[in-house]
Amino acid sequence: MKLVTFTSFKGGAGKSTALMAAVPGLLAAGKRLALLEADENDTLALWRSNARDSGTWDEAVTIHEATDLGLFEASYAAAEKAGADIALVDSKGGASELNTAILVASDLILIPTSLTTIDIDGALSTFQFVVKLLSANRLEIPVAMMMTRFPTYRLNASERESVEILKRVPQMTAQLPLRNAFAEIQALGMLHLHAARLREAGSIAARHIEIALREANVVSQDIFDTLYEAESTGALHADQTA
Ligand SMILES: Nc1ncnc2c1ncn2[C@@H]1O[C@H](COP(=O)(O)OP(=O)(O)OP(=O)(O)O)[C@@H](O)[C@H]1O
Ligand SMILES: [Mg+2]
Repeated sequence: MKLVTFTSFKGGAGKSTALMAAVPGLLAAGKRLALLEADENDTLALWRSNARDSGTWDEAVTIHEATDLGLFEASYAAAEKAGADIALVDSKGGASELNTAILVASDLILIPTSLTTIDIDGALSTFQFVVKLLSANRLEIPVAMMMTRFPTYRLNASERESVEILKRVPQMTAQLPLRNAFAEIQALGMLHLHAARLREAGSIAARHIEIALREANVVSQDIFDTLYEAESTGALHADQTA
């Protein structure tokens, strides 16, 4: 099982949203997913509860509580035993013993950030912390920044500067744009199932969700490629919006 951790020192960086957005694409690639909830705000459980209410949850995706070290270890083992190919961890902001244990157990560490100066600062200090931690433990785990809330309009000077700063550190090629569909993802459930329901209902809003879903799937493809470099087959090109 591959462990993918969304982490940041700073709260509100976009960890949970990026994780939720990545789910449809990884499912489309045929991967069995487990989600590990390491933030006691129960973000993922609430997402599932909303999704179940509106019929937009895929029951093949399991959620395991990982809010302390013991639970993390037990949940990791349970997810692996249940046959998950990938476990996605929604971590809590800040440094903690739990976050350290999760980071060193990861196969890929993603640090989401928007382009605001304050978010970039938080992401860079998270990056430095993670790199030090990995080198102290002689671990070679890929760590990458992931731009989120990426403006869909022309970048201003400060945002362009942020993009330049991020070029100095490893980053995912794909970005998650600023979209209502992502801002509301916790209420909507899994985006591919939400889009399918809207299509069934003949709703014009399906188009907006499909655009966001395609963008999210590019991020998933990026995660997939990083995890399965050698065996990547472009399986994600399967079109969920057809
Ligand atoms: N791509 C996006 N487009 C629009 N809104 C977004 C996007 N990504 C995140 N947001 C919004 O930004 C806010 C913070 O995102 P999120 O909750 O994912 O961050 P987090 O890092 O998980 O925060 P916390 O540290 O509190 O767990 C939320 O209101 C979310 O809806
Ligand atoms: Mg969160």
